[in-house]
This record gives sequence, structure tokens and C-alpha cells, in this order.
Amino acid sequence: MQQLADIGVLGLAVMGANLARNAARKGFGVAVFNRNGARTDELIGEHGSEGRFTPSKTIPDFVASIAKPRAIIIMVKAGQPVDQVIEELLPHLETGDIIIDGGNSLYTDTNRRFHYLKERDIKFIGMGVSGGEEGALEGPSMMPGGTREAYARIEPIVTKMAAQVDGEPCCAYIGTEGSGHYVKMVHNGIEYADMQLITEAYDLFKTVYGLEAPAIADIFAEWMKGDLDSYLIDITSAVLRKIDSTGKPLVDSIVDEAEQKGTGRWTAQSALDLGVPLTSITEAVFARALSGRRAQRAEAEKLFPHAAPAKRQITQADIDAVKDALYASKIVAYAQGFEHLTVASEQFGWDLKLGEVASLWRGGCIIRARFLNRIRDAYDAGVAGPNLLLQDYFRDAVSKAEPNWRKVVGLAIEQGIPVPAFSSSIAYYDGLRRARGPANLLQGLRDYFGAHTYGRLDKPGKFHTRWSQDGSEIDA
Ligand code: 6PG
Repeated sequence: MQQLADIGVLGLAVMGANLARNAARKGFGVAVFNRNGARTDELIGEHGSEGRFTPSKTIPDFVASIAKPRAIIIMVKAGQPVDQVIEELLPHLETGDIIIDGGNSLYTDTNRRFHYLKERDIKFIGMGVSGGEEGALEGPSMMPGGTREAYARIEPIVTKMAAQVDGEPCCAYIGTEGSGHYVKMVHNGIEYADMQLITEAYDLFKTVYGLEAPAIADIFAEWMKGDLDSYLIDITSAVLRKIDSTGKPLVDSIVDEAEQKGTGRWTAQSALDLGVPLTSITEAVFARALSGRRAQRAEAEKLFPHAAPAKRQITQADIDAVKDALYASKIVAYAQGFEHLTVASEQFGWDLKLGEVASLWRGGCIIRARFLNRIRDAYDAGVAGPNLLLQDYFRDAVSKAEPNWRKVVGLAIEQGIPVPAFSSSIAYYDGLRRARGPANLLQGLRDYFGAHTYGRLDKPGKFHTRWSQDGSEIDA
């Protein structure tokens, strides 16, 4: 009789197939199933020799081919297909078996599925998986959430499948319920902000200084040598350098309309619900939405003509200024993202270990960056505080970048180049570093039209002014 598989993978589109191959290459027995059996045949035909696969054509056979308690990774489209697959699996599972959803599911769906399956004595892990196709195969960053006990069953497998940085796996237990998918969602939100900042830097080089894509690629390649060293900066230079079959830079022929599958929007929505000032990520989501209004933009360009700025000769100081603006804005985006996770952890009772989150984002995932070592160090040393911007390293980095950051945002505004993520980051920074802001007036207005009351600096309590009566102030 054939040896039972260590793990099952259901759903063999490219992410699922690559995760299955990854596990098999690491020496694990992998049961595989796909609704359309031709894909299963294809996987076995092309890659069957990479390890011990057990292909099945029916769900009962698939489930029966996995060692108990069974661990089954489902890699299907987020949303209703996940519920459907769970229902199909349920009749064949036994107490203690584990379903792992490795897709980009909305965390509230994961919460619901976690409790639904708990009532049926089945364990559920919502596992964020980042790194795209290549990461799934070579070693992704993995964010599993569920019960610790369920995680213990899959830990030896997933920690071997994950990317490794300095001998540590980019995979760690995140917390209960949908916390793994929540952390992955915020990862994607940060990914949105990172990419938006990169496009703003690109736009400045292109529009203000008239640089061609290959020249901009050289700048990004140079930035890889410093604090900006990261996967996204690296692939930016690869994308900008690509010449297509017409002999011109490919990027110049790509439609300027950003699509999105939802994780960035969910991050912003959750921040709004929690009252977290997550401005960078939210601006990045809105910038994608505006990019999608292509026809409106074309019309507006005619209605609001703007003389093209006279191209400036670029200097090293100009390049460094954009670099500083990008780095400072990036620090703001990450500080906001980690504050968001801190608030969510408290609100949902998840006890997230943010140092570990920073650590497992150091490799395998899309936002992997040298910079995450700094964040991990701050959490490990217990000095991260409520906001990373207040911590020594980040405070010094942002203070150093501040003059150039202002210069770049000022220049962009003067020249009519939209830099929503650069400028919202500096607005957040300026708002944060003021002990007394202008919300006193706002409170006065609220009290005027709605008797919403206000606090006073000189005495405790809540007060209301009888604006339209005798003007006197009363305790509220
Ligand atoms: C990852 C990516 C991955 C996917 C994004 C794309 O971590 O591997 O984030 O999950 O590429 O979901 O998201 P948008 O289509 O919304 O840009």
C-alpha cells in the first residue's frame, strides 16, 4: 500500500501547484487534487519526478490518501469558492483534521469559517501566503492563523516550505481566528503604499526631469545599495529596463490604469473602522481608483490645460532628494501599518507579536526589505512604542530626510505633479509632531451646530456653550 501523504493541496492553479511542488521538493509526501483533473495530470506529468506526489481524481480518494490528522491546504479563489470546497470536504473529514486556506481571503470570512468548523470539530487555519508564483515555489512568507494546536501539526512542513532569512523561517504562528489573513491583508496594504511611492518617484524623474525609463532604472538599481534595498525597488529597475519587441521601453506602452483585487481596500476599510490614521495606504488605494478614471482624466486634461514643466537638468542632489522623500514616506507607511496591527490586535484580542511579523516579512514576500530588520530590532528590544516614528532610528532617519522631503513635495505641487502618498505622508508627519493642532476649532463648530460638547485645556469635564441663547457655558 502506498505511503500516506503528509499534506494535501486542493486547487492546482499556479499558486497551488507551486506550493505542492515546494512541499514535495522539501521531502514531504503531497496529495494533490484539482476539480479539473487535467491540471492534476499536467502537474504530475511535468513535475511528478520532483518528489512524492499522490494524485487523486475524487475528493474521497484525495482525503483518504493523507495521513491523520489530515492537513489540507486549499488554494482556490477567495470568496464563495472557499465555502464551497469546505462543504465538499466536510463529509469526508474526521475530528481533528485541519483545513488551511492559503488564499487572500477576507479576515472576517476566515473568522466565520474558523468558528463554523470548530463547531464541527474540524480545525481551520487561515494562512496568508506572500511571494507570488515564484515565492510559492522557492519559499514564500507565510502567516498562519488558527489554533496553536492545529499549527503544531503543520509547523514542521510550512517552516521548511517558507523562505529562510539568516537561518530563520519566514513563517510563524500569528494568532487565533482570521489573524493570519488580517496580517497578510495589512502586508498587501503596505505593498500598495510601497508601490505608489515608487510610481511617484518615477513620475518625478520622468515628468520634471525628462528622464527615460532606462535612466530611471539605473537610479533604482543604485538605491538597492542602501536603506531602500528591497524586492519592489529591485523589480522596479527590471520593469523600467525592459525593452519590448517595438524596441522601446515596455513601461511606456503599458496602460496607466491600476487594477486591484481588494486587499488594499480592505486594509483601508478596516483602518477606518478602527479609527487608525492609515493615510499612506488609503491614498494608495485612492490613487489606483483615480488611475481607473481614464476617460475622465483625458477629458480633464483638455479642460484644465497645464503647461508641461520645463524639463530640468537632473543633479545628484535632485536624485538624493527624491530618495529621501521616498524613504521618509516609506517609514510613515510602515509606522502606520504597524500601528494599525497594534490596534487590531488589541481590538480583536489576538496578541500579535509584531517583531515576529516584521521578521517573517524579511524574506519571501512582496514587501521584503532590508528595512524590516530595523523594525524587527525595535520590537525585539521593546522600544517600538505605540508608533515606530517615535523610535530613535526612525525618528533620526525621518528628521534627516525632512528638508529634502519638503523640497520634493513642494516642487511636485508647484509643477502640478500628483504625489498623493509623498504629500499625505508629510501631512501626517506634520500633524503628528504638533502637540496642539487645529481640532479645537472643529470641536467648537461641532458644539455650535450640534451641541456635541468640548473639553477645555484649563479644567476637566465636558462643556457646551449656549451659542444661540445667552452665550453662557454650561457643564455638559
Ligand atoms: C503577495 C501579493 C499577492 C497578489 C496581490 C495583488 O503577497 O504575494 O500581494 O497576494 O499579487 O494580491 O493585489 P492587487 O491585485 O490588489 O494589486
